[in-house]
Amino acid sequence: MHFTILAAILQVAVGVYATALFDKNLAYHSPFVDNPQISHDTRSIQRRNVKRQTQDATKFDDEHYPGFYGSDFSNSPFVWSGGLNFTHSVASGDPFDTSVILWTRAVPTSPDGTSELPDQSVPACLSFAVSTAADLSGKPIAHGQAFTSYDVDWTVKVEATGLRPDTKYFYQFSDCTNPKTISPIGTTRTIASANTPAKNVNGGKPLVMAVFSCSQYQAGWFNAYGFAAHNTTADIFVHLGDYIYESLGNGAHIGRAVLGRELATIFDYRQRLNQYRTDASLVYAHQHAPWITVWVRVGTWMIMRFGLLINPPEVYTVNSALLQVADNAWKAGTADSNDTATGCKWSPSGACFTDRKMAAVRAYHEWMPIRQVDARDQLRIWRNFQIGKLLDLTMLDTRQYDRDLTDVYYNTVVNTIAAFENRSLMGAAQEKWFYDTVSQSKDRGAVWRVVGQQIVFTQLNESGAFDLDAWDGYRANRARVLDHLYKNKISNTVILSGDSHANWVSDLAHPNDTTTYNPTTGAGAIGVEFAGTAVTSSSSFGSGIQPPAADAVSRVLVDANADLQWSEGSFRGFFTLSIDTHNLNATYYAMRNISFANLDGFASANFVVKSGENKLSRPVAGGTVNAGVLRSQT
Ligand SMILES: *[C@@H]1O[C@H](CO)[C@@H](O)[C@H](O)[C@H]1NC(C)=O
Ligand SMILES: *[C@@H]1O[C@H](CO)[C@@H](O)[C@H](O)[C@H]1NC(C)=O
Ligand SMILES: *[C@@H]1O[C@H](CO)[C@@H](O)[C@H](O)[C@H]1NC(C)=O
Ligand SMILES: *[C@@H]1O[C@H](CO)[C@@H](O)[C@H](O)[C@H]1NC(C)=O
Ligand SMILES: *[C@@H]1O[C@H](CO)[C@@H](O)[C@H](O)[C@H]1NC(C)=O
Ligand SMILES: *[C@@H]1O[C@H](CO)[C@@H](O)[C@H](O)[C@H]1NC(C)=O
Ligand SMILES: *[C@@H]1O[C@H](CO)[C@@H](O)[C@H](O)[C@H]1NC(C)=O
Ligand SMILES: *[C@@H]1O[C@H](CO)[C@@H](O)[C@H](O)[C@H]1NC(C)=O
Repeated sequence: MHFTILAAILQVAVGVYATALFDKNLAYHSPFVDNPQISHDTRSIQRRNVKRQTQDATKFDDEHYPGFYGSDFSNSPFVWSGGLNFTHSVASGDPFDTSVILWTRAVPTSPDGTSELPDQSVPACLSFAVSTAADLSGKPIAHGQAFTSYDVDWTVKVEATGLRPDTKYFYQFSDCTNPKTISPIGTTRTIASANTPAKNVNGGKPLVMAVFSCSQYQAGWFNAYGFAAHNTTADIFVHLGDYIYESLGNGAHIGRAVLGRELATIFDYRQRLNQYRTDASLVYAHQHAPWITVWVRVGTWMIMRFGLLINPPEVYTVNSALLQVADNAWKAGTADSNDTATGCKWSPSGACFTDRKMAAVRAYHEWMPIRQVDARDQLRIWRNFQIGKLLDLTMLDTRQYDRDLTDVYYNTVVNTIAAFENRSLMGAAQEKWFYDTVSQSKDRGAVWRVVGQQIVFTQLNESGAFDLDAWDGYRANRARVLDHLYKNKISNTVILSGDSHANWVSDLAHPNDTTTYNPTTGAGAIGVEFAGTAVTSSSSFGSGIQPPAADAVSRVLVDANADLQWSEGSFRGFFTLSIDTHNLNATYYAMRNISFANLDGFASANFVVKSGENKLSRPVAGGTVNAGVLRSQT
């Protein structure tokens, strides 16, 4: 260990190679690399670090560091050796067959525990080790070091490489200067290599993914994450967006008051991520398994819409459920920054949307164990995971990347343009990439195509109205997706959706088409959509709505929508997918009470999709569910 510390220190001293340990920390690549205006220059951070060591400190006058080194900088270390605090445990994500992203946060502490501020201008050095042994004993399979500093909010994000495919691993960070200072041990895994036969993936056991969306801190405790980690066998956690919300709300009555203000600056976004990541269930879930995530938002539109269906009138209350970047975002605007039509002057935060988006993206890449798909295009998070020949998990960005104008509540124009051929949810580059990816997935012989994306895909007629912020506002784009699947006979496609704060399970078919598609038998469908409810965010059927009232709404909706086979709007929760070569099963979980921390939940419905059938197996959900309403099969 001491040799490696020395090596690190020498590397720093020799200057030109010295940025290596900064560059090892992928957080410095956020939000862009090689862009003079908006990227970290690790060379200048390094120069700052070296310069202070060679300066005469007597003339140095900085009220922030009054005599921390007795006015003698030559006493100051090249790397911080005064103690580190792992404030947010560990996390991992974006597993490949031989590598995975590992994350932690290590904040300098005062050496003597006094109130004197540690010198935050010195970088901290972290070691990491990856092992198949639960106690990290023996020679690590992978190890390395990286620097962090205040420039990246003390986050550390490294890629552990040289791992074996389809293997469970344990990992830990430690302080390079004091190996006794260690983080909690995390568990993670790699995925099978692309050519692994489908039946051998995950050692022949079904691969289980837990799928989440819409976790608003002030709306409740993140019990769903803890339940998935403690009470299911989920191997991989997938988050479809709205991981944080920019709004404040009123969570104080359940001990969930949100710090800060509506998010606009880098400080705001970091503070919010920091607070979210103190929820014990979320901390445990990140420590427990690798996550694969995409970002988003969520709107109030559906809440108002469903309000029309329900009595009593209190459900009309529009709660301020909002998003990851900001509410009802599209590529150049959002509903609440309100600069879509009129520029920045309308923005309540005073920040232009583009500045706000940059701050959000930067903090997201610092705090989330996500890979950078394209270092010169940090807004690109659409990416694909080939998990043996069992499946491709294709993650799309149907929100931020290159999306044409959405419904921002006052721009009724979207009603008239929703069907235009030239509107895209994904943008031309992503759309082409998506069609190529599912075609290649079929060509390479993968059994399943699982598509993780943010918003509900299937047409939902809500008493004559449609959510134009979902795929219903981009009908030509949806038709192109379905056409691509039908024309190329691409089987076994399963679309996952979040965003809507309610559960929807549908066969995939062209909207209104009951000629090719038979809603009773499912014949003629080309796949299945599993849309999941929120971890905590309020129901789109009305905040706090109880099962009987929610079921009344669901009954209307399953009767009005041919493709929709199950609707449930009362419970908060998540769902799992259990996948092998023969079946893809979805189990929906409902959490009983999110107003305090607990692990009390139950399975509300189970669905089976048989390989090659491209529809939900009949009877849907085995004919019975523990919550919500099934479409009548007669
Ligand atoms: C470490 O960080 C945690 C979480 O922020 C905090 O509660 C704790 O007081 C810190 N410990 C030290 C020694 O600074
Ligand atoms: C947003 O902008 C529109 C169009 O100028 C305006 O009518 C509306 O009042 C603004 N809303 C807010 C909340 O500022
Ligand atoms: C998009 O299509 C509509 C309807 O065909 C047309 O009116 C509009 O001009 C087109 N917009 C662009 C930018 O091509
Ligand atoms: C939507 O459903 C309602 C019944 O709830 C029906 O009257 C209406 O015709 C449907 N609209 C469309 C566009 O399918
Ligand atoms: C479905 O039918 C309704 C009523 O005719 C129509 O308004 C709507 O545009 C159709 N949806 C699609 C996607 O064609
Ligand atoms: C799916 O569910 C069916 C019926 O319960 C069961 O026989 C099958 O083993 C399950 N398959 C997977 C991959 O979970
Ligand atoms: C949830 O738990 C809280 C706190 O114990 C309790 O006050 C509330 O009644 C519970 N809600 C339900 C629906 O059981
Ligand atoms: C979930 O697991 C926890 C921890 O093992 C246990 O205490 C709890 O009772 C379980 N919940 C259910 C609903 O089984």
